[in-house]
Parts: sequence; structure tokens; C-alpha cells
Amino acid sequence: MFAMDSVALVTGAATGIGRAIAEVFAREGCRVVLSDRDAQRGEQAARALKETGAEAVFMTADVSDPGAVEALHERIMQRFGRLDAACNNAGIEGEQAPTAECSLDNFDRVIGVNLRGVFLCMKAQLGIMAAQEGGGAIVNMASVAGLVGFAGLPAYCASKGGVIQLTRAAALEYAESPVRVNAVCPGAIKTEMIDRITREDPAAERQFAALHPMNRMGTAEEVAEAVAWLCSPRSGFVTGQALAVDGGLVAR
Ligand SMILES: NC(=O)c1ccc[n+]([C@@H]2O[C@H](COP(=O)([O-])OP(=O)(O)OC[C@H]3O[C@@H](n4cnc5c(N)ncnc54)[C@H](O)[C@@H]3O)[C@@H](O)[C@H]2O)c1
Repeated sequence: MFAMDSVALVTGAATGIGRAIAEVFAREGCRVVLSDRDAQRGEQAARALKETGAEAVFMTADVSDPGAVEALHERIMQRFGRLDAACNNAGIEGEQAPTAECSLDNFDRVIGVNLRGVFLCMKAQLGIMAAQEGGGAIVNMASVAGLVGFAGLPAYCASKGGVIQLTRAAALEYAESPVRVNAVCPGAIKTEMIDRITREDPAAERQFAALHPMNRMGTAEEVAEAVAWLCSPRSGFVTGQALAVDGGLVAR
């Protein structure tokens, strides 16, 4: 369980894995800040959480924009005065193309959101958490694509590998403080992102499922449970880890 009145932030919380993480944080008694660049769906997600009795608020921000990330954290501090848990989850898949055909624009966009976005959020969060009583915990959303290569997704793989290394560097920097930094590396999780990649073609979905020894895709809730554990005091001796939530994919 989280300490009473803990404040938890989730970026990319309007849908998919991020929304499921916000739901688990709320269920575990946190006051939850949902953030996303999609204000309409983000507000909807926060409203739905509030209807369950949770304390939830939506704050819009594009994580690739340094000013927006700074403003987001200022608003959180103005409203709550602390930040105990943060899941830097916002991410995009970009276009699928082999490295030689990957456009510079696609490369920059994917790195800008997935890697630079996590860097910008961590820069804001580490200072806040290190300065407050009780510290805090950060979980960055990587992917199995940060642990093994996937042909046709060079920018995505590079961004997620970078997220794992950013996580390790920050974890070491703060290891003697009460701030922990970890990453989760999901396999294929049935969300809109996967629907866009498979175009909801059952054959493509089966191929994705078959990548995992469990022969299925994961659910957003299964990833959310791992994130909540890594953010909670229950994982107090865990830092600098990249936890695969992948039905055994990287164990092969
Ligand atoms: N679905 C999978 O199979 C899978 C596997 C491994 C890792 N991941 C990672 O999990 C995270 C969530 O993925 P998902 O499947 O829920 O995706 P999704 O596309 O369903 O949801 C992503 C959310 O992030 C938001 N977002 C995108 N760019 C943003 C930005 N610049 N600023 C703020 N918000 C932004 C979107 O509006 C959306 O609400 C991503 O980082 C993704 O790379 C997903």
C-alpha cells in the first residue's frame, strides 16, 4: 500500500496502459494526476476515475515540450505540494520502416516523445522527490523493444533502449537517497497502439501473440500491477531495474 495521501502522476494516461496505471494507483488510495497531450480523452478518463470515488485530476501536457513538462510539474506542486510516484508512460510507436528507410522526421519524433520526454519528466521529478520527506519512486515505460531488437522499428527500439539506460543512470545517482527509479518492459499489450500496428487483423494478432511463450498478448492491467508494485514501498530495495512484463518473451 501507498502512504496516505500519496500523489501519483501518469503521463499518457488518456488511454491504454497509462489509463490502467492511473486506475490501479487510484484503487491503492493515491491521489492521481492523469496527464496526456489528448485533453479530451484525458478529461474523460479522469472523470471516469472520479466517479469511482477516487481523487483524480487531468492536466494536459505534451511530454516532448520542455515548457509543458515544467508547467505540469509546477501545477502538481501548486495543487498537491508533493509527488510520490510518477510513471513516465507516454509514448508513440512511429512509422514502421527498416533503418535505411526510416525518415529523419520519424526518428526525431519517436526519440522526442519516448526518450526526450522521459528525460524531461525525470529532470522535473527527481528534484521534487529528492527534496521532500519520504522521497519517491519513478517508473519509466520502456518495452521488450529496449531489450531485444525488432526489425522495422529502429527509432522505437533505440528510444526504449535509451529509456532503460536513463533509468539505470538516474537510479545510481539517487541510490543513497529515498528516490528509486525503475523501468518496465512490456511485451505486446492489447491497446490501441497494438491495434494500429496489427490493423486488428486476427492473423497479425496471432503472430504477435505467438512471440510470447505464453502464446498471448498481455493486458494493460498486468503492466499496471507491475508499475504500482515498483512505485510502492513494497519494492523498497529495488532500483535501476528493467522489469520485463512479457509472458516470457525475453527468456527465450
Ligand atoms: N501496447 C504495447 O504493446 C506496448 C508494449 C511495450 C511498451 N509500450 C509502451 O507503453 C506506453 C503506452 O502504450 P499504449 O499501448 O498504452 O499506447 P496508446 O497509443 O494506446 O496510448 C498512448 C497514450 O500516450 C499519449 N501520448 C502520446 N504522445 C504523447 C505526448 N507527446 N505527450 C503526452 N501524451 C502522449 C496518447 O495520447 C495516448 O493517450 C508507450 O510508451 C508504449 O511505447 C506499449
